[in-house]
Amino acid sequence: MPFGDFPLKDKIAVVTGAGSGINLSFAQLAVQAGARVIVADLKLTADGEKFMSGEGAKAARFVKCDVTERADLENLVKVAEREFGDVPDVYIAGAGVFEPSWSNFWDDTEEDRYAQVDINVNHPIKQVTLHYQNYYYLASSTTQGL
Ligand SMILES: NC(=O)c1ccc[n+]([C@@H]2O[C@H](COP(=O)([O-])OP(=O)(O)OC[C@H]3O[C@@H](n4cnc5c(N)ncnc54)[C@H](O)[C@@H]3O)[C@@H](O)[C@H]2O)c1
Repeated sequence: MPFGDFPLKDKIAVVTGAGSGINLSFAQLAVQAGARVIVADLKLTADGEKFMSGEGAKAARFVKCDVTERADLENLVKVAEREFGDVPDVYIAGAGVFEPSWSNFWDDTEEDRYAQVDINVNHPIKQVTLHYQNYYYLASSTTQGL
């Protein structure tokens, strides 16, 4: 199944927040489309466990990841290289929260940071910059056989 004009067959996709919900569904669809998938989340739900031990057993890997930690984001690339032999082709920055009690605009208890922004806004930016700063040229060189 193509996603728009972008076929996923043989691509490597990183999906954050894929331990549950919408992103887990995307990970499932990506595997069905022939992709290899890094399922990145703080934890797996029961549905996520079921997927990983069933349909995703061959083509998906769960990696424990807190998207607010740069080292955890970097590790996703390392796991893709180790497990699937290359850097990821596709990043789905799906991890997100909506006004949880521990990071809430109306009842602000955080002194230095606003975790909701770190998760919902900064993590997609970090993931993109991390990739093009550290891996883009490597991927390009590999593609060109240099
Ligand atoms: N469900 C909806 O109707 C809806 C509508 C609009 C937007 N969204 C957004 O889409 C996204 C997915 O929605 P969902 O309903 O599947 O929610 P969900 O809660 O099932 O999935 C979010 C996932 O993000 C993970 N996550 C949260 N913080 C994380 C962190 N620091 N590091 C790694 N993973 C982390 C959670 O563990 C969870 O598995 C969310 O950002 C949500 O706000 C959902």
